[in-house]
Amino acid sequence: MGGRIIPSILAADQERLQEAVKKVESCCKALHIDVMDARFVPDESYSPDIVELLDTSLHKQVHLMTLEPDKKIEAYAAAGADTIIIHAEAFKSDKNAIDTLKKIKQLGITAGISINPDTSVENIKGILKEDCIDLVLVMTVHPGKSGQEMIIKVLDKIKGIKDINDSVDVEVDGGINRSTIGKAEEAGADLFVAGEAVFSGDDPAKAVENLEEGLKEK
Ligand code: DX5
Ligand code: ZN
Repeated sequence: MGGRIIPSILAADQERLQEAVKKVESCCKALHIDVMDARFVPDESYSPDIVELLDTSLHKQVHLMTLEPDKKIEAYAAAGADTIIIHAEAFKSDKNAIDTLKKIKQLGITAGISINPDTSVENIKGILKEDCIDLVLVMTVHPGKSGQEMIIKVLDKIKGIKDINDSVDVEVDGGINRSTIGKAEEAGADLFVAGEAVFSGDDPAKAVENLEEGLKEK
């Protein structure tokens, strides 16, 4: 399979971001870019300009940890996002979320919905049944920071998601390391975001390889 590990640049040295990205280009297919608005989460990060300036052959996956994601989609699409992930908690109704996912798809971009650790699968059942969704991002930490410990119990949601829609990819975000990645795979995850586990050492490519060794299906 390959390319199941998606490095999160939030954990990289922000002063040397471009350098960090180049180090994972040969071993990965996509890059995870955490956009924060200082409202949905306390911090702020990655304007569309930065996303556009990042020079990479990797697929740019933009995780919008923001309120009003519907107002941000066009700018990130224009900046070169290949996937846009919105948060279910940022919408007042299923209809608003579904309309936004449809808008992402209309722009020719892979569309994902994310749920926080405290949001149940039941809450997004109506959205999951629609065919406007390619990816579900299960947050296994409370959003906003790299380097947190995985909330293992959250992995149980993956089966519930696949039971409702088995054509979506399920990606896990938060606390992936060599000892948790196998558990996430066993729970049914297809893709794994990894921040600290990839970028905290000197050799990010080697760190990706190490994580892949923790998977049964490479
Ligand atoms: C957390 C972000 C994650 C984060 C993952 O709010 O959405 O993408 O960077 O970092 P680690 O793998 O260090 O938990
Ligand atoms: Zn993320």
